[in-house]
Amino acid sequence: MSTSEHRSKSGFETRAIHAGYEPDEMTGAVIPPIYATSTYKQDGVGGLRGGYEYSRSANPTRTALEGVLAALEEGERGFAFASGLAAEDTLVRTVCRPGDHVVVPDDAYGGTYRLFEKVEKAWGLENSPAPVSDVDAVRAAIRPGQTKLVWLETPTNPLLNVGDIEALAAVAHEAGALLVVDNTFASSYLQQPLTLGADVVVHSTTKYAGGHSDVVGGALVVRDLELAEQVAFHQNSIGAVAGPFDSFLVHRGLKTLGVRMDRHCDNAEQVVTFLANHPAVAQVIYPGLPDHPGHEVASRQMKRYGGIVSFRVAGGEQAALDVCAQAQVFTLGESLGGVESLIEHPGRMTHASVAGTDLEVPADLIRLSVGIETAEDLVADLDRALDLATGRA
Ligand SMILES: Cc1ncc(COP(=O)(O)O)c(C=O)c1O
Repeated sequence: MSTSEHRSKSGFETRAIHAGYEPDEMTGAVIPPIYATSTYKQDGVGGLRGGYEYSRSANPTRTALEGVLAALEEGERGFAFASGLAAEDTLVRTVCRPGDHVVVPDDAYGGTYRLFEKVEKAWGLENSPAPVSDVDAVRAAIRPGQTKLVWLETPTNPLLNVGDIEALAAVAHEAGALLVVDNTFASSYLQQPLTLGADVVVHSTTKYAGGHSDVVGGALVVRDLELAEQVAFHQNSIGAVAGPFDSFLVHRGLKTLGVRMDRHCDNAEQVVTFLANHPAVAQVIYPGLPDHPGHEVASRQMKRYGGIVSFRVAGGEQAALDVCAQAQVFTLGESLGGVESLIEHPGRMTHASVAGTDLEVPADLIRLSVGIETAEDLVADLDRALDLATGRA
């Protein structure tokens, strides 16, 4: 068995550390070097070394990252982009043409919805929002012959609704559409949508994949070789690729994804237990809670329930804003998935772009990205912030 065959059959953490790269032949470098080059010397016209001719088309640091992305999602091929939205836009323009239609989650990440509603729509692509947790509603939103993509986020951002990947893949395929799963929230460690029937996985690698809040990036992983060829063509033609420095950072992040995710989940569980028993908290939203409507599906398709916790504050919007302002260990900021804990008010921050639409989120909602700090410090910080914000201190 060759080294690469052996690795393709290895466990997740082994693939995360070894897939996509063999130590450099010349130096033995164990880690993929950052190839800060835009072009490559050719050995005579058309005499490419290893297929590299220009770094928009391919760059060895990006190739290494793309290899590990594919290995972790158990896909045919991975592609790295300058951001999650760049990956999404490239996929849409690969598969859809003006006059086509897509079904999108009715609580999708605000930027994803903005891309479909304000950018792709002007280009002639119609969309219909539907709740990811309702298979019949997604089926009803499909326009047979016109719908090319069913877009799924699971769990969704920020309401953590859960969609049944296997069931939705069947619904999409019945109608001749592809199922795309944005796997950013779960990460490749907790969920592998391609193994459940999805056709394409999308990531904002800015989040758990990178894991250290020091890079913006995106990824696509596809199951089918023919679609992979088309994505590769559009990746090069559109050009929104990940640069070598960014590719290096995301690749480095992926090596520790498994251990980080386990710690994110451990800490999130402690935070959930604390919040669920706090009188100033009206509702805790976490797929790991038995009363979460998506708990059963999440238990089937996810390894654990993730590091994102949302909750509603009994005192309403002002109290929610005050909790955000009082937190200290939880940093007030957008984004998620880094080692440090973040707190945010989706209605005024990440999801401000969907205010006034069907995708508007509750004003009393807070989203936590639970980091990997000491769990007791995170709980103590929330306890203090809730007491100060609700006048209980
Ligand atoms: C679920 C999800 N998908 C996609 C994106 C977009 O990714 P990026 O910000 O890297 O463009 C985000 C960003 O927050 C996200 O949360």
